[in-house]
Amino acid sequence: MSEQEFDVIVIGSGPAGYVCAIRCAQLGLKTAVVERRKTLGGTCLNVGCIPSKALLQSSELYEQTAAHLGHHGIEVKGVDLDLATMMKRKDKVVDTLTKGVAGLFKKNKITPFYGTATLTGKQTVAVADDGEEHTLKAKTIIIATGSEPVSLPGIEIDEERVVSSTGALALKQVPKHLVVIGAGYIGLEMGSVWRRLGSEVTVVEFLDRITPTMDGDVAKEFQKLLKRQGMTFRLGTKVTGVEATKSGLKVRVEPAKGGDSETIDCDVVLVAVGRRAYTGGLGLEDVGVVLDSHGMVEIDDHFRTNIDGIYAIGDCVRGPMLAHKGEDEGVAVAEIIAGQAGHVNYDVIPGVVYTDPEAAGVGKTEEELKAEGVDYVAGMFPFLANSRARTYDQTAGFVKILADAKTDRVLGVHIIGANAGELIAEAAVAMEFGGSAEDIARTCHAHPTFSEAVKEAALAVGKRAIHI
Ligand code: FAD
Ligand code: NAI
Repeated sequence: MSEQEFDVIVIGSGPAGYVCAIRCAQLGLKTAVVERRKTLGGTCLNVGCIPSKALLQSSELYEQTAAHLGHHGIEVKGVDLDLATMMKRKDKVVDTLTKGVAGLFKKNKITPFYGTATLTGKQTVAVADDGEEHTLKAKTIIIATGSEPVSLPGIEIDEERVVSSTGALALKQVPKHLVVIGAGYIGLEMGSVWRRLGSEVTVVEFLDRITPTMDGDVAKEFQKLLKRQGMTFRLGTKVTGVEATKSGLKVRVEPAKGGDSETIDCDVVLVAVGRRAYTGGLGLEDVGVVLDSHGMVEIDDHFRTNIDGIYAIGDCVRGPMLAHKGEDEGVAVAEIIAGQAGHVNYDVIPGVVYTDPEAAGVGKTEEELKAEGVDYVAGMFPFLANSRARTYDQTAGFVKILADAKTDRVLGVHIIGANAGELIAEAAVAMEFGGSAEDIARTCHAHPTFSEAVKEAALAVGKRAIHI
């Protein structure tokens, strides 16, 4: 049993926790991080953002090589899939990056402990690291324990045939028919991976639209494009059960508004209906930390829980469950603790679905502006009229800019198309600076680039786009 004292103890080493720890160390605070996994980086690096993007990249290359190079005059015959090697590459990317975080900890003199942390007092944390018990003490404790997948009543995830994203990232065979429950971020990204590798993919969504948090026009175009690629959508449909038989799985579905039920036969089901805060085993109740009605750690605008000296950030608190949101909160809380003015602008947090094409948005959607009664102007520009998109045969989609009708200030930008995830950064910078559509329109954009479509959409707000 060892007893050690730190200025700050961070519980959880995901993007929120590890970035927070690095910023604390930069600010001169003696920092420890407790992580229950054997590797650092949290959901994002181990079973989230990184492995999913590695598989998205590999599967896109496979599909392109197998089916989309002919018209470039490139004939490729006998393209074979070696799934085991594809998975190994993904694991190597994960391994490199998680070790990279360990390297950053070393560089910044952060002490990692590997084991489950339990709060044993308002300033003490117990952790069993490889059989050794430690008591850690600090005036400041930061909870960054992240989130876990949710399932549906009566559906048990076994991570082999009925999988969450974690199982979907490690399937040993390409499913013949994959049924995805939930047309959100995970369903569409992992559905895309397996469709490209040869699965028939059926997406069952409770609502009558996909990606409910994105702009409606983007969602409509997105669904059309994914359907064209071969994904089947069953919208306005609820899953009431999954039955395992010797030969496969039977997914029972019925109209969301009620009606006759039917079954869909498949061999793998991916449950992707959202995630919930993970606070199990932490002992929050014992020290009196209050959770909100969704089980998230309740915090104020400065990331403070109701207990003095205990803060919380990332997926386990309110707001979008995104890595970059957690990272920014990690930096902000470290600066607040060090007596600086840490701050996160929740109005400008981009969201990206890394499918092909990508879908991205930042700020208000058109639906939100309508609901809030805001007087706005929309400018749209299709990639069909963008010269770089033509040279790449990536003409699907558009850029849509929503600006205040009186002030021209940019209120939201929504993009579906190639590189949307990169293009959205320009919009975020403009919005962070309180920029107008005119500001974007007057900024010189290199030719020929996809980014010219952003400039043209800004010009379209003032009804003066050039190339359409
Ligand atoms: P986490 O990353 O979940 O880290 C929390 C850590 O705390 C975990 O490692 C956990 O083991 C540890 N922990 C929990 N309890 C304890 C305890 N008691 N003691 C010690 N350690 C503990 N977001 C994006 O922005 N972009 C993407 O492309 C993206 N892709 C994703 C793909 C998938 C398949 C999934 C599932 C998620 C994806 N996300 C993506 C979401 C992103 O992973 C999360 O928003 C992000 O990881 C949250 O960071 P966090 O630090 O709050 O929590
Ligand atoms: P999600 O919230 O993105 O989507 C869940 C979908 O399931 C919604 O469309 C919802 O309407 C639907 N749904 C809910 N209950 C249902 C039911 N009973 N039957 C059918 N459909 C139902 O959640 P998802 O995809 O599980 O991802 C969790 C979170 O992880 C995301 O919200 C996001 O924050 C993060 N993530 C981010 C990624 C990125 O940034 N590219 C990639 C993957 C995950």
